[in-house]
Amino acid sequence: PKKKGFRFLRWTWRLSILSALGGLGYISYGIYQMRNPADQPEPDPKKKTLVILGTGWGSVSLLKKLDTENYNVVVISPRNYFLFTPLLPSCTTGTIEHRSIMEPIRNFLRHKKAAVKYYEAEATKVDYEKKVVYIKDESEIKGDVSATEVPFDMLVVGVGAENATFGIPGVRENGLFLKEVEDAQRIRKRIMDCCETAIFKDQSPEEVKRLLHMVVVGGGPTGVEFAGELQDFFNDDLKKWIPEIKDNFHVTLVEALPNVLPMFSKQLIEYTEKTFKEETITIRNKTMVKKVTEKYIEAESTGPDGQKQIERIPYGLLVWATGNALRPVVRDLMSQIPEQANSRRGLAVNEYLVVKGAENIWAVGDCAVANYAPTAQVAAQEGAFLARLFNNMAKTEQIEDELKALSLAQEKAPNKDTRDQVFAEIKELQKRLRRVKQMGPFEYSHQGSLAYIGSEKAVADISWLTGNIATGGTLTYFFWRSAYLSMCFSTRNRILVIVDWIKAKVFGRDVSRE
Ligand code: FAD
Ligand code: NAI
Repeated sequence: PKKKGFRFLRWTWRLSILSALGGLGYISYGIYQMRNPADQPEPDPKKKTLVILGTGWGSVSLLKKLDTENYNVVVISPRNYFLFTPLLPSCTTGTIEHRSIMEPIRNFLRHKKAAVKYYEAEATKVDYEKKVVYIKDESEIKGDVSATEVPFDMLVVGVGAENATFGIPGVRENGLFLKEVEDAQRIRKRIMDCCETAIFKDQSPEEVKRLLHMVVVGGGPTGVEFAGELQDFFNDDLKKWIPEIKDNFHVTLVEALPNVLPMFSKQLIEYTEKTFKEETITIRNKTMVKKVTEKYIEAESTGPDGQKQIERIPYGLLVWATGNALRPVVRDLMSQIPEQANSRRGLAVNEYLVVKGAENIWAVGDCAVANYAPTAQVAAQEGAFLARLFNNMAKTEQIEDELKALSLAQEKAPNKDTRDQVFAEIKELQKRLRRVKQMGPFEYSHQGSLAYIGSEKAVADISWLTGNIATGGTLTYFFWRSAYLSMCFSTRNRILVIVDWIKAKVFGRDVSRE
């Protein structure tokens, strides 16, 4: 009986290995199949041309849900990938490699029902009366033609925003921004350069201090998350690999308002400021930067006595994160439309996201003003709304055409029976048409705000069934991680991000300067 028991166990073991291998094979085959989708039908020139500008949160969310069989879809963007911005601050220190949060636009355009055209170019101008977009290839390699025009019947503007500098002198020349992959790469390089230069032979103590002073301007979520990531990098890796910098490396966050993270609740602002203090990050509230030079910033601060003073703060690395400004193509489009004259922050849109004063032009995300904060959450919901709207519009047109055909058929019906049959079909279609046309305006559903604040802590203001929950700490950090992981664009992205997190934990972040 003992032998029998062993044999049973052995067989169970073999069977489980076989089923595991079978399961793995099945998943691999599924992924392989996904990589090789069936050929797509070419766009039908009889259909309307829908041009989508941008490949960010708004445009990609629209593309994801859009039935591309209904239109000739053309996508124009200088970036041939989607970027998962919430994890961009982690790329500045190498916690996450930038390719893990990029998803090539081709990867998912290939899976659409009908082919979509993509042009890697910037829209330089929209002529809304002529219904034409002028585009220019700004990449390194240019062909004989690098500027042309694309006509449209319908246009979606989802070009996002650029970095605000408020015209403060020296910012563009000396500061680094944090919006795109290249920005994160530049910051990563600059951090290491500052560290290595600081320990260059015979460097003076003041110069060492300056080089190792990492200044972040802007206490919004971008500035706070970056400051937290940078301090983590120093605590976990830099001070171990380069102990010489230990006593002088310092992060300062400069904010013009009385506190950081103004969109969070008071309790979480206090929690963030307390955590930063423990992590030895200095917060300089009520300090407005007025000028930037190569080696120092000039800032106006308000002392406890209410007196204003100007001081010079030397820095090695300067990251500028003071929010959004209009892109030139958006500013130019606004200047063509009289109804946009009073809009300052972007294209004013109505409740269906139609650009006010323009026909057949919609706007989504950071370039649109619809009374919501410029966040990925808003942009993604707006994009999904437009997809539903466009799918419905196509369905409406299709039903209306069918109704016209049926009316003709009813007129020509040879007898009463056929006429009654056609009449019943018309009734049914009219009912469907009413249902399709019943689409309400865009309504934003706020899921909450989340931000990483360093030392494995995060803050979250979450909308819950029972109301709002404001929470901060390590548990929130795990929530932050799982939330962002689930929001990643693809399974490929998720796996790469998990691997990066494990790699950083086990081996430490890579401190080589590329
Ligand atoms: P974007 O995503 O910026 O996309 C704009 C697209 O337009 C890009 O593909 C760009 O290449 C393209 N484009 C630019 N110019 C042109 C042109 N002239 N012609 C054609 N195409 C053009 N929000 C959250 O809700 N949660 C977060 O955790 C969060 N974290 C963030 C972290 C960082 C570091 C940053 C910078 C932002 C973060 N945000 C977050 C904000 C969020 O990323 C933006 O609100 C969101 O990206 C806006 O989406 P969008 O589609 O309007 O623009
Ligand atoms: P922001 O607009 O939220 O914050 C910029 C900050 O810079 C403001 O607090 C402002 O007072 C300050 N500032 C401006 N000029 C200054 C000066 N001269 N000197 C000192 N301080 C100055 O910008 P941010 O952080 O780039 O965010 C942009 C958008 O992206 C926001 O809507 C934000 O909610 C969203 N975002 C959300 C994240 C999240 O949810 N985790 C992460 C990053 C961005």
